Amino acid sequence: MMNKIIPVFFFAVLLSASCNKGKDTKQDVRFVSPANFPAPKYNFNSNPVTTAGFELGRKLFYETQLSRDNSTSCGSCHISFSAFTHHGHSVSHGIDNKLGTRNAPPVMNMAWSDEFMWDGGINQLDMLPIAPIENPVEMDLEFAIAVQKIKNNAAYPPLFKSAFGSSEITGPKLLQALSQFMNMLISANSKYDKWKRGENGITLSTDELEGLQLFQQKCSSCHSTDLFTDNKFHNNGIKNSFSTDSGRAHITQLPQDVGKFKTPSVRNLKYTPPYMHDGSFSTLAQVLEHYNSGIKNSATLDTLLNQNGVLGIPLSVQEQQKIIAFLNTLNDEGFIKDQRFAEQ
Ligand code: HEC
Ligand code: HEC
Repeated sequence: MMNKIIPVFFFAVLLSASCNKGKDTKQDVRFVSPANFPAPKYNFNSNPVTTAGFELGRKLFYETQLSRDNSTSCGSCHISFSAFTHHGHSVSHGIDNKLGTRNAPPVMNMAWSDEFMWDGGINQLDMLPIAPIENPVEMDLEFAIAVQKIKNNAAYPPLFKSAFGSSEITGPKLLQALSQFMNMLISANSKYDKWKRGENGITLSTDELEGLQLFQQKCSSCHSTDLFTDNKFHNNGIKNSFSTDSGRAHITQLPQDVGKFKTPSVRNLKYTPPYMHDGSFSTLAQVLEHYNSGIKNSATLDTLLNQNGVLGIPLSVQEQQKIIAFLNTLNDEGFIKDQRFAEQ
């Protein structure tokens, strides 16, 4: 008798343990700053991440009703499997098949930034979604009307109630929920991160380590910290003339800012081609050859890329390959496959 009961009992315990485990991982949403990152810049006191707020933010991120004709969501251009970029598009593609002018950057590690867009035109994450919602080539809808459409959708009042304690739907709450979702899009579990934090005996190969050293010597003054960006604006010589897109000068109107763009992170490059603000390079080999031999001069070219009239950063083919080997340690497969971030 006992012999029969025990296995059944054990099976039930195992089953319930694994169910609870599944439930916990789904529900456990809280912001934790990775040990190898600097302090976040987002003010979490005014908008802490909660599970209900994150889930509401996720639903809004994938909500096509935020566009004029219900065709386009944030997730249309920021796709999880391409690290939240617009896969395969050199410039973004929005409502009515309209083309934008810039490459959609990855939405990752946003909590550490206070300069958004390629030109830093927005400096608060909570304000950012208004720009794509109202942009005529992105979602093309007045923000007040977008909020009204969400108010009229019966699915939302209970979700706002769980997230914010009241079923009243307002623009600021909608924006805070989107920030909660975006703040959780943390990519910090690449091979490099695990090695840096000394996890699970992860080691880097000789090429990867030499590539890291070269990167530190030649690239990390702009692609700095473990976020791999200084969050500043530089002209890295991809053009001689910036008449079609003046970059930072578009915001500041200053001649010294012409052709300067925000330094992008170099995380997850495997998933985010093409590269640069206009998607002008499709492979890392092209990017490295650009720094080696393709730098184009202009009045605002960064001084690091113009050493006494010698343009660029001299890199042998071998050195370029080692840097690429290092860059490939920054791909975070767990991030792009994290089911919490996908459309539910
Ligand atoms: C039609 C495509 C498209 C849609 C839809 C879209 N975006 Fe973007 N997103 C872009 C492009 C392109 C940029 C870069 C814009 C620039 O630099 O001027 C961008 C930039 C961003 C950034 C800044 C990233 C950085 O590193 O500075 C964030 C955050 C972002 N979008 C979030 C959103 C959210 C939230 C929504 C929905 C409300 C949204 N996007 C809708 C294409 C899109
Ligand atoms: C002077 C600052 C600076 C230096 C030095 C620098 N970069 Fe960059 N990098 C930038 C800026 C700014 C951009 C974006 C330019 C644009 O889009 O117009 C960029 C873009 C990139 C991109 C494209 C990323 C994307 O998502 O589009 C890669 C890859 C890259 N750099 C790698 C490197 C490597 C490797 C080195 C060293 C050999 C290096 N960078 C040195 C400033 C710099």
